[in-house]
Amino acid sequence: LNVVVILVAAGSGVRLDAGIPKAFAPLCGEPLLAHALRGVVGCGQVAHVVIVAPGSHLQQARDVADQCPRVDIGVDVCLDVVAGGADRSASVAAGLAALRPDDGIVLVHDVARALAPAELFTRVIQAVRAGQPAVVPGLAVTDTVKVVDAQGRVLATPDRTSLRGIQTPQGFLREVLERAHADGASATDDAGLVERVGGHVRVVAGDPRAFKVTSRLDLAFATALLQDGPYAG
Ligand code: C5P
Repeated sequence: LNVVVILVAAGSGVRLDAGIPKAFAPLCGEPLLAHALRGVVGCGQVAHVVIVAPGSHLQQARDVADQCPRVDIGVDVCLDVVAGGADRSASVAAGLAALRPDDGIVLVHDVARALAPAELFTRVIQAVRAGQPAVVPGLAVTDTVKVVDAQGRVLATPDRTSLRGIQTPQGFLREVLERAHADGASATDDAGLVERVGGHVRVVAGDPRAFKVTSRLDLAFATALLQDGPYAG
């Protein structure tokens, strides 16, 4: 089965306050989108990438993709750029509309998780190939999590050992993800939509480097990782 990655990059990035869509915010001299693309194609198993960009920035997204060193890894990756929607789920749906007939396994990845390593993509793809129809990477939660109401009153404290912080890339058999999106519902992740229609979702080990760049603090952390960490060089 061919693997396609829908890279959702149509967020406005208001929380980052960079004045440009987050996908184009610079990180060590390159836009977040370039870093994210490197992780996506770096696993060497992706045949097709659909970048879902803000409608106002389609050409910029194409330019970033054209500069990505795809030839370095010897993979002939097909690239499409499409315009996103009003929320994340609508942007994923726009990406689904751009799938090609050969695409059988669909990964959905947030551009904001720009430093997700290639091995995380490999782990998710392998789990789907091994027979799991819906796979999400997850990490143990280190904070105690409480359910609160609008007044800040604590309603419950779920047992932390059963909680996971869920990341992307999330991987699906194509028909499973298409069915989950068929009614146009919204959720904060794609597995949530699969769960709503009764699908089974499995968690595989996440990776701390797949954290979501949301704030300027996250950008500083990402910069430090690139300069001093395993990505240095
Ligand atoms: O808003 P949130 O942090 O959940 O966004 C996660 C990802 O979804 C980001 O990579 C963002 O670019 C993308 N997104 C999108 N279209 C939207 C909103 C968010 O592609 N309308």
